Amino acid sequence: VKKVRIHHLQRWKSEGHRWAMLTAYDQGAATVFDEAGIPVLLVGDSASNNVFANGTSLPVTVDELIPLARAVARSARRALVVADLPFGSYQGSPEQAYATAVRFLKEAEVQAVKLEGGVEMVPQVRKLTEGAVPVMAHVGFTPQSEHALGGYRVQGRGDAAQRLIDDALAMQEAGAFAVVMEMVPAPVAAEVTKALDIPTIGIGAGVSCDAQVLVWQDMMGLNTGRSPRFVKKYADLHGVMLAAAQEYAADVAAGTFPGPEHSFES
Ligand code: KIV
Ligand code: NA
Repeated sequence: VKKVRIHHLQRWKSEGHRWAMLTAYDQGAATVFDEAGIPVLLVGDSASNNVFANGTSLPVTVDELIPLARAVARSARRALVVADLPFGSYQGSPEQAYATAVRFLKEAEVQAVKLEGGVEMVPQVRKLTEGAVPVMAHVGFTPQSEHALGGYRVQGRGDAAQRLIDDALAMQEAGAFAVVMEMVPAPVAAEVTKALDIPTIGIGAGVSCDAQVLVWQDMMGLNTGRSPRFVKKYADLHGVMLAAAQEYAADVAAGTFPGPEHSFES
């Protein structure tokens, strides 16, 4: 199997071939998504919510994320694996960003890192790309800035559209190989996608992006409760797993599991 590389993503943009990205945090999910042909897997800091049961993405640490990233990188035969730099592990300085990113490439063997921010992150993105660390940028609604942004809100509406375009362009010029746009009006995301040479990856950013990304537990129905407008539910894994666990427990209680076929003879 030929590994997906950054230049493939670039070629797909020029060919108008849209592709899908999913999060993955462990071997099981990474193996299935890789087999499905998903070309890019993101070890998101959304692991904070979806693995570690925190309320936001802020608490997850580099030491917590690296073992998950290593599991995904080891499991992906074809997919390009990108790891998020956690909150507080890169904003301090370009040197801090480089030291953190190098840990992900050396200890987890991912192929790229992702960080949140636009114009203000130019020094970080330059430092990383000059130091041979491929960078995916993330603009629009950036969950690590939830408190600074005043909650989950669409970004780039009205007069803020120009700021979003400037952020995306700044990331491209600093050397990023792709830009995630989260919760951005579809027409603005379309304009950014046209303006950029590098691929845009949308989440709540309309259909005109070069690619799309979703958190896998959201789109497969493992997370219950209210989900954002931009999530489409492709499966009901909560229902499937609930029924399986209940049936297993009932079989054990009834003495119908294990059967002779699951047991060893003397
Ligand atoms: O952490 C994450 O899952 C993300 C994607 C939703 C883009 O950053
Ligand atoms: Na993230």
